[in-house]
Amino acid sequence: MQQISFYDKQPDEGDTEAELLSGLIARNKRIAPKFFYDERGSELFLEITRQPEYYPTRTEMKLLGETSSHLRSLIGDDSVLIEYGSGSSEKIRLLLNSLKPKVYVPLDISREYLAKAAEKIAMEFPWLEVRATCIDYTQDLDLPFSTDGRRVGFFPGSSIGNFSPEEAERFLGRVRRQVGDDGALVIGVDMKKDRDTLERAYNDRAGVTAAFNLNVLAHLNREYGADFDVTGFDHLAEYNADEGCIQMFLVAKEDQSVSFASTQISVEAGERIHTENSHKYSAEEFVSMAERAAFEGTEVWQDDNGWFSLFYFQAKAA
Ligand code: AVI
Repeated sequence: MQQISFYDKQPDEGDTEAELLSGLIARNKRIAPKFFYDERGSELFLEITRQPEYYPTRTEMKLLGETSSHLRSLIGDDSVLIEYGSGSSEKIRLLLNSLKPKVYVPLDISREYLAKAAEKIAMEFPWLEVRATCIDYTQDLDLPFSTDGRRVGFFPGSSIGNFSPEEAERFLGRVRRQVGDDGALVIGVDMKKDRDTLERAYNDRAGVTAAFNLNVLAHLNREYGADFDVTGFDHLAEYNADEGCIQMFLVAKEDQSVSFASTQISVEAGERIHTENSHKYSAEEFVSMAERAAFEGTEVWQDDNGWFSLFYFQAKAA
C-alpha cells in the first residue's frame, strides 16, 4: 500500500519578497540560487544534469550505484533518510532498493515539483513511507513530525557547493544536530579541477544552463509580479580560482528599469546580477570541514579522474 504524507513549511511570501528586494537594491545585485527552483527551473535543472558537459550528475550516479551495498552495511536497517533539496528524487532511486530505509523524507522548496516527485517515489516503492516536506532547507531544518530509527542525511549533487564555505560548515552543523548522536550523512561533493572542464560544465553548448539562469528572472516575473525583460540579459559563468568557485551572473545587455515589490530598480547596461556560486573542494578540505561540524569516520569514494567525491560521515558524539 502506498504511504505518503505531505507537509508544507514553505516560507511566507512577504519574507521571501523582502529577501529578494534587499538583493536587488544592493550595490552588487544578487538573487539567491534557491530562486532558480520553481517548477520550470527544477525541470531545466534536470535537463542540465543530462548535458554531456555537466559531469557531476553522471559521475555521482555511477559512484552511488557502485557503493550502495557498502552504504547499506554502514547505515543498517530501518533508517530514516532525509534528503536536502530532493528535486526529481532521481538519485535516491539508486539507493532505495539496497538501503531499504523505513522512511524517506524529501525536502524541497518547489511545492508542485516535490509533490509530483514524491507521488512517483511512493508508487514505485510501495513498501516505503514517504514524508514529503516543502521547506527552504537553507533556512529551516525543523521537521514538523518526529521519527523513529537512525536518521541519515542525504545531500547529493554537490549542492553544498552553493553555500559559501562558512555557510556550508554551519549547515553541516545543523544537519549534525538534526540527525543526532547516532546519525550519519551521505554527501556528494564536486572537486577542484582545471578551469576548462569546470567552465564547460556551466556553459553547455545546448544553452540549457543559460536558460536555467535566465529562468530566475521569469520566475520573479511570474510569482512576484516583477517585469524583467528576460531577453535583455546574457548568461555568464566563470571560474574564480581565488574563491575556488564557479560564479554565475546575468549581465544586462542594455539599461533597464524594473519594477519589483513597489520599487523601481535601475539596471545599467553591463551590470551583473550574481545568481550562484558553486564552490569546489579538495577531499582534505571537505573532510576537515565535516570534522569541525562534528562528523567523523569518513569513507570516501571517487571516480578515476578524481572529479567528484561521495562521502559517508557518521556523527561524532557531542
Ligand atoms: C544544484 N547545484 C549543485 C548545481 C551546481 O552545479 O552548482 C546548480 C547548477 N547551476 C548551474 N548548473 C548547475
